[in-house]
Order: sequence, then C-alpha cells, then structure tokens
Amino acid sequence: MDKKYKFKTRAIHAGFSGDATGAVMPPIYLSTTYKQREPAKPIGDFEYSRSSNPNRSYLETALASLEGGTHGLCFSSGCAALATLLQSLAPNSHVVIGDDVYGGTVRLFAKVFAEKGITFSQVDCSDATAFKNALKPNTQLIWVETPSNPMLKITDIAQICEIKSKYASKAYVFIDNTFATPYLQNPLECGADGVCHSTTKYIGGHSDVVGGALIVKEDTLAENLRFYQNAMGAVPSPMDCFLLLRSLKTLGIRMEEHCKNAEKIVDFLHTQPCVKQIHYPGLKNHLHHDVARTQMRGFGGMISANFNFNIEQVKKLLGRLQLFTLAESLGGVESLIEHPALMTHATVSPQQRKLLGIDDGLLRFSVGIEESDDLIDDLKQALSNL
Ligand SMILES: Cc1ncc(COP(=O)(O)O)c(C=O)c1O
Repeated sequence: MDKKYKFKTRAIHAGFSGDATGAVMPPIYLSTTYKQREPAKPIGDFEYSRSSNPNRSYLETALASLEGGTHGLCFSSGCAALATLLQSLAPNSHVVIGDDVYGGTVRLFAKVFAEKGITFSQVDCSDATAFKNALKPNTQLIWVETPSNPMLKITDIAQICEIKSKYASKAYVFIDNTFATPYLQNPLECGADGVCHSTTKYIGGHSDVVGGALIVKEDTLAENLRFYQNAMGAVPSPMDCFLLLRSLKTLGIRMEEHCKNAEKIVDFLHTQPCVKQIHYPGLKNHLHHDVARTQMRGFGGMISANFNFNIEQVKKLLGRLQLFTLAESLGGVESLIEHPALMTHATVSPQQRKLLGIDDGLLRFSVGIEESDDLIDDLKQALSNL
C-alpha cells in the first residue's frame, strides 16, 4: 500500500483491497488446493495452501507494509519463523545473539541448531565493543531483541548495523520486534535486514492465535526464505491469518493504551518500598533511555521489576492478584504477570540468569488495556501486608 498513508490507515487497508463480491472483510479460504487450467498453469496466484493462500498473502502484505519492508512471510509461531531462518543458513555458520532473549529462542539455538553445527555467541549487543568482538568471519546472522526479554534492555539498531557492515558485511541483522511492534519501532528503517515477530503477542493482541512472521527488504533474501517456508511447512492456517489481519487493524490504538497504562503502573511501582528496581525503557534513568527515544515512538506495555521478596512472598503476591493473570505470553488486551526464572526463562542457565538479574524477586508485567486505576488497585491489594 502507498507509503504516503500513515500507520493506522495502512493497518486497516493494507493487504486486502476487496473482491468481486464487495466483501469488506476477506473471506476465509479454507481450500487446501487450487484448480489448474493445464498442468503447472494455476488459474490464479495459488496452487497449494502450504505454499501460499489468499489469507496468508493478505496478512504478509499488510505486515510488510507496516514494517516498511518489501516482503512478509508468515509462520505457525515465532519459534517456527526463527527455526526456518536458521534452517536457511549455510552449514557451520556462526550467529551472534543478544544476551537477554526469550528462553525458547536460546533453547532453539543451544539444544537444536548447535547440535547441527550452527555455532552461536551470546553477547550484550547494547555494548558496541562486546558486539564487535563477537563477530567472526563465518558470522551469517545477528539476532537481537530490543527491547529485550525480560530485562527490557535496548540495543542501538543503527549502531550494530553499522558495525556489522564494517566487520561482517555478509551477515544479516534480524531484530525481534515482538515487544515494540511496528507501531513503536521499525528496525528496517534503522538499517536492519529483517524483522521477526511472535505474532502471538501484540500483533494478535487477544491471546487467541499462535503465529510468527519475518519481514525483509531484499528480494534474494526473501526468495531464499520463501523456499524454506514452503519446504519446512511451518505455516499458519488461513483462519489464523484472518484473525491476525483483523487484529492488525487495532494495533495502533491498542499500543497507545498499553503504553499509557504501563507508564501509570511504573509510577505506582516507584511509590512501593518493596520494589528494588524497575526496568522500563521510558524511565529517564534507564541505561539506554536516550537510544530508546531515538529509535522508538513509545516505550511499550512491558515492565519488569525486582521485588525485595523471597520466593514465598512472590508466590503469595501472585496468588492474590485478581486482574493480572499469572500466565506466560504477553501483548494481549488483558494484563498478565509472570515469574521469568520459573516460567519463560527456566531454560536459560542459572549462571546466565544471575548475570542478567533474573532473580527470584523478578516479575514481568504485560500491562493490558483495562482501566489503569483498576490495575493499580489490584496491585495495591495484593501487595498490602506482604
Ligand atoms: C520476544 C519473543 N520472541 C519470540 C517468541 C516465540 O514466539 P512463539 O511463542 O510465537 O513461538 C516469544 C515467545 O514468548 C517472545 O517473547
């Protein structure tokens, strides 16, 4: 869709521009196969639904438009998107990944692809020297989450792209943009080659679809990934694509509410003596607040905080909450809370967790779009006399 249109307009109109029936919303094409006029001559653009189908195509086009990319590719989960990207690397490639990433991402590298000869180094990519030193002649991919999960660290995307161009020019920089969403941050505009999303999170926004996406600029990279997308077959169903396209339409307004509510929760947490440290890129004392201001248009709905509590107190607090549901995942309209050390990051080694500050008192909040006063009252009652 024409780039002259602003985000919220593109979120509503990109991807599907109507059909012969005049339908305003796309039909869901459940057909697994498409008729051919003669052998190898399909009637339209589609042959077999794993390779492509109308609903996936609408969603891929819309995501590419929102991220400022040329090609979107959708997958059955965020992990499937990364697995397909890793499968596309040459044997014996080396990958640099951020030190603070989703536990399942680390598991995929350490327990699946390392066994198959893809080596990786985990490094704090917000430290330019450490990042540069981690690059090797066979580095093919750089994988960074910013904001990171769960410590909300910020990496300067333009800076790592510049270093990569000098010292590992053949490598691709991919940013996992799941926490920020394209509404708040567009890594491709900062020089990255690709963006990844767990569309399960803010893009889906209603905690009812698992999905993933890669968005890229370069035709040859897209062509290669498209080959692996079809060959590996970890693709989303037409129904899931329909739901995600529907969710995209409200992404902008949802993100504005998530950001507003998160700021109010951060202010509340600041008044609580039991809170030792708050991790939120919108805070002026956040180590990389200036970088966040440059590359983000808002600071998102995710907060982590270290509480001065032992594990029993933490469990009591979690048990008392009424509106913050104790659950993995994030980015839905409803508020969630989780304990990274025992839940999302249980697969990260204890040494690495200690290094990052993921201790027993760390809680991660995915602030939803309920009334902020109700959320604060819920926290107040759960924290009283702990
Ligand atoms: C930042 C981030 N990236 C990727 C993933 C993996 O996505 P999925 O659960 O859709 O496979 C997650 C899951 O929590 C995540 O938080």
